[in-house]
Amino acid sequence: METAAGSPDVEKRIAVASLLFAGGMLALIAYAALRLGISVPGCVTNVKPFAAGELIQVAPGRYEAHVVSKMWTFKPDLLKVPKGSVVDFYLTSSDVVHGFYIDGTDVNLTAIPNAVNYAQARFDKPGKYQVICHEFCGSGHHDMVGFIEVTP
Ligand code: CUA
Repeated sequence: METAAGSPDVEKRIAVASLLFAGGMLALIAYAALRLGISVPGCVTNVKPFAAGELIQVAPGRYEAHVVSKMWTFKPDLLKVPKGSVVDFYLTSSDVVHGFYIDGTDVNLTAIPNAVNYAQARFDKPGKYQVICHEFCGSGHHDMVGFIEVTP
């Protein structure tokens, strides 16, 4: 004698219920996205000021540098500030993990996708400071440099 759990009829009903459940969930996702405008959180690099990377003057002698690391460059790759400036660095990555070491300073950060790391530096000596990626990030790693130009 066949048991109820093993009958093809019960299996068919379970299969139909599973498909209805999955279809219902897809319909709810579509409703949330299309009618309610709900979406999953975007990347940090999709929003300003990280969309392109920016140097913003917030006060005389005070700057915020929003830097995006990307294979194999920093955006922006040249920051120009006058001597005596204090710069707050906010750093992220739009692809893989990169390094951010400013030669001649204490600034040594890691650029991590979807995270923002911070350091502050004061530039009292005019000149061109090199920014170096110190995390191996692929075939262009050795060319990944940026500059901070401190004008007199
Ligand atoms: Cu970026 Cu190494």
